[in-house]
Amino acid sequence: MNMRAEKSAFDSLGGMKRTHTCSELTAKNIDQEVVLMGWVQRRRDHGGVIFVDLRDREGITQVVFNPEFDKEIHNKAHVIRNEFVLAVRGTVISRPQGMVNPKLKTGEIDVMASELRILNQSKTPPFVLEDNTQVSESISLRYRYIDMRRPGLQKNLFFRHAAAAAIRTYLNGLGFIDIETPFLTKSTPEGARDYLVPSRVNPGQFYALPQSPQIFKQLLMVAGFDKYYQIVRCFRDEDLRADRQPEFTQVDLEMSFVSEEDVIAVTEGMMATLFEDLLGTKIECPFKRLTYEEATTRFGLDKPDLRYGLELQDVSDIVGASEFSTFAKVVKAGGVVKALNAKGCIDFSRKKIDDLTAFVAVYRAKGLAWIKVRPDAWQSPIAKFFSDSEKEALRQRLNMEPGDLVFFVADKSNVANDALGHLRSHLAEKLGLIDGNQYDFVWITEFPLVEYDDEEKRYIAVHHPFTAPLEEHMDRLSQDPLAVRSRAYDLVLNGAEIGGGSIRNHQRIIQEEVFAALGIDPDTYEKKFGFLLEALDFGAPPHGGIAIGFDRLVMLMTNQISIRDIIAFPKTQKAACLLTDAPCEVSPAQLEELSLRVRTLKE
Ligand code: AMO
Ligand code: AMP
Repeated sequence: MNMRAEKSAFDSLGGMKRTHTCSELTAKNIDQEVVLMGWVQRRRDHGGVIFVDLRDREGITQVVFNPEFDKEIHNKAHVIRNEFVLAVRGTVISRPQGMVNPKLKTGEIDVMASELRILNQSKTPPFVLEDNTQVSESISLRYRYIDMRRPGLQKNLFFRHAAAAAIRTYLNGLGFIDIETPFLTKSTPEGARDYLVPSRVNPGQFYALPQSPQIFKQLLMVAGFDKYYQIVRCFRDEDLRADRQPEFTQVDLEMSFVSEEDVIAVTEGMMATLFEDLLGTKIECPFKRLTYEEATTRFGLDKPDLRYGLELQDVSDIVGASEFSTFAKVVKAGGVVKALNAKGCIDFSRKKIDDLTAFVAVYRAKGLAWIKVRPDAWQSPIAKFFSDSEKEALRQRLNMEPGDLVFFVADKSNVANDALGHLRSHLAEKLGLIDGNQYDFVWITEFPLVEYDDEEKRYIAVHHPFTAPLEEHMDRLSQDPLAVRSRAYDLVLNGAEIGGGSIRNHQRIIQEEVFAALGIDPDTYEKKFGFLLEALDFGAPPHGGIAIGFDRLVMLMTNQISIRDIIAFPKTQKAACLLTDAPCEVSPAQLEELSLRVRTLKE
């Protein structure tokens, strides 16, 4: 037979009209004539009878080509291969005794084919279309449209759709209004590099793709919209990781005449509704809260996973005056010595401890001291430096019991916390301390307003520069910016930052003070954000909001390890789209039109 897809005299469907999806037919449909359309998941030739599993997005139905029933069509079925696209007319028959497949929704029936049209052929797919097959990313992303035929990815994208729909229903119900904001815009400072778009009609000038709709949503509050939301794409040129894409989606919202509590309540309600509707999971509200200070002190990180203990302890007061000069020096210089008791880990080998030392070095720790608590004595490279009373104090503070392995990092507090905080998560995972069925939400509040950027040698905003300082810290703004806490809050789920927001500066005078604290001079801020400052002058109401990282949230709800698994067309680590081959060079004519010339700079 001619292997080209059949050309129809009527239309591309050969005049056939689909009557059911591939998951619909049951014993109730027996004896009905039906038309199914879909892809060939599998073809089996049972010495005469040919069985085809026909698949569409809803499921699978088994189609039978029986030579005794129809010789011609059985002959035609011989050419069918995996992923061919078929239209099949046939009669629903019950499966013979013992052949019923209870795992399949359509497992009680078969469709006995009486008409077959091959709507299209398929080359042999580059990989097997089953979940859990190991496929290299260079292949799976290049053939993403085939990859997405796999049930796992299909399920994830359906889930994502349902989550977006549930969020819309929830926010619409509260009177939020969905307003679109521009993509061709000016830089929005969220801490990443901008993606720039050259303007043809304004040679030498560029738009920036928004890192978030932050400024526009604030302008919408000035415009009086009060409750805004958008499920919106954001663009950030930053180093990519498993939970970061260069373009990603936020559930972005903003409200007027509110305090932190109002934004938090709306967000908690959104999470509770979402988890209840989609997973049938009851989430307890209100969520836990920790200040930034408490989170980093106790857990090392500002996105602590609270599903397990392993809290860090400060032992600076105990070991700061000890004979171990490394610790003593650090404490004297204003640093800290923090410790983590890995209960029951005494059997860690020397090699394992070396590996962990290398692990914390990534977070700038200069070493990882340790003590193994043996029943009779301590085994450790540093225990000899401690007096009996220091040892006793450590034992009590760290609840050291035989079998324990205690780790120490001495450094500036941010380095010690960060290194041990990451070690804490790493150990919890390795030791199997994490309950995978638990959803643990926590708000982190009172973030520092600014931090010092060693590279840029200046203060930068911890959130973004529109975040309001705590009112009672206003007077520190000019004297000691590092001591100012802000009205920002992050939402953390199972150790992942899934959202962040704040109450904003709605008065010019305060916004200018914050710019000043960030070392941005009036000329610069007028040029960059003059339009926002001007808007604040025209009756801006007090306002605040939040943005939830929608991809991350869906990733966690669907138990995926990478946000690529819940995005239809994700990019690689190098921000490339392997399917379309973007980014790519453009023609000289296009460059000419944009008044651009490309010059490759050498390192
Ligand atoms: P923020 O920068 O914290 O806040 O972003 C909000 C949330 O977006 C998610 N997120 C990302 N997800 C995937 N890939 C990325 N590259 C990426 N970057 C961020 C995170 C994060 O918590 N305008 C403010 C919000 C506000 O103040 O209202 C903002 O964008 O889950
Ligand atoms: P040293 O005195 O350099 O031989 O180090 C003795 C032990 O202390 C080793 O186990 C080091 O890993 C550890 N160590 C060194 N510097 C630090 C530090 N800043 N914090 C924690 N442990 C350290």
